[in-house]
Amino acid sequence: MASRGGFSNRLGFIAAAAGSAVGLGNIWKFPYEVGENGGAAFLVIYLACAFLICLPIMLAETAIGRNTRLNPFGAFNKIGSRRWGLVGLMGVLSGVMILSFYNVVAGWAFGYFIQIGFGGLLSEGVNYGDYFGGFVSDITDNLLYSIGFMVLTALIVAGGVQKGIERWTKILMPLLVVMIVGLISYGLTLDGAMDGLSFYLVPDFSEITANTFYTALAQAFFSLSLGMGALITYGSYVGKDDSIVGAAALITIADISIAFLAGLMIFPLVFSQPSIEANAGPGLVFVALPGIFETMGSIGPFIGASFFLLLCFAALTSTVSLLEVPVAFVTDQFKTNRKKTVYFVATFIFFVGLPTMLSQGASDFFTNFVYYGGEDKDFFTLIENVFSDLALPLGGFFIAIFAGWSWKNKGFQKELYFGNAALEGTFLEKMILFMVRFISPFVVGAIFIISVLQIFFN
Ligand code: PFF
Repeated sequence: MASRGGFSNRLGFIAAAAGSAVGLGNIWKFPYEVGENGGAAFLVIYLACAFLICLPIMLAETAIGRNTRLNPFGAFNKIGSRRWGLVGLMGVLSGVMILSFYNVVAGWAFGYFIQIGFGGLLSEGVNYGDYFGGFVSDITDNLLYSIGFMVLTALIVAGGVQKGIERWTKILMPLLVVMIVGLISYGLTLDGAMDGLSFYLVPDFSEITANTFYTALAQAFFSLSLGMGALITYGSYVGKDDSIVGAAALITIADISIAFLAGLMIFPLVFSQPSIEANAGPGLVFVALPGIFETMGSIGPFIGASFFLLLCFAALTSTVSLLEVPVAFVTDQFKTNRKKTVYFVATFIFFVGLPTMLSQGASDFFTNFVYYGGEDKDFFTLIENVFSDLALPLGGFFIAIFAGWSWKNKGFQKELYFGNAALEGTFLEKMILFMVRFISPFVVGAIFIISVLQIFFN
């Protein structure tokens, strides 16, 4: 087991898993989803999804990983029947596909960091909407930045679990929090900040539709890195004397807090600029924020570059966990050399991401790739819808069913006792089991069916 590596202690695991959870999902995606789904009401549903549905699934994933010390496919094969292996395989595939597009968006953040910090972007008085459109469709720039990002990711993963993943997350995460808090303080001093806060914090439940629930659920899975076995993989490096119950709670709280803070940072900034709409969609941070940085005068480029650097940090600790999943799969199943596997898999995923990169205007074919839900969708949206919005809740559903119902000899319960013997027989234990058996799968299943029905019968 020693040769497989592991986290140095419980804090190492918490840092790495929180690093995985906190990423573009929190800072880029969460605010625009809040913006598109009516503000605070979405926030309330999101919090419920995270604590009631996702937290139990996080425990299930971590327990499965630690018990088997394997990647998702190997893990399910070991303690479940062969058919369960398919759930693991779906997870590994989702990891590959999610990283393929995630790395492209991370490349945008990297590009903005370079352009604002060193390319004089803010001083040109540009229209940032047009700039963003031009930027994402410029294939040369995109190639460069996303190669850069994938190389960084691969270097960290090749460094191993403790010296690579754990060490870097412990450095990058605190820096991220400091930067966010700094930007919140600045944003709150601006005109319009209070309107931004009330949009974000005062719920208007009239905006809620069935789709809001699904969006919140899918976002909670994505943000907490659940449903594809990332935490099975990280769990496989956790020691037997570490309590995973407290760890999972801390990871969830850390992730939610940072998403919440990202909203506190962005909405005052957005509302201070009358020309920018809160529902600007995926371009929100790339379009809304540069305009604000520009108004800051001579410190603008510094603040702006810091923000996008922060976004890169957050993304990096997530891409690292996404890459670790297929890497652990290949090294466990085929007994390959870890370093070579890392470089091979990273290169492969980079190529898988090319159509996504081309789908933002560079290629007509990939930009108007398929038609569903009443409009043409680009390749990126398709991959995101299938491998993140659909596959993660579905994977989570099966993981909960497995841990709650199918894992033999009370495997799940017993795994929780390691590092937490006092749990046995407590109310907390009963609660956890009840949630994993009934609440998580039932609610995910219900939301899933309602949304699918809505798509077809709308
Ligand atoms: N949780 C990451 C984010 O919010 O940006 C994305 C992610 C990482 C999803 C790892 C899934 C995963 F396995």
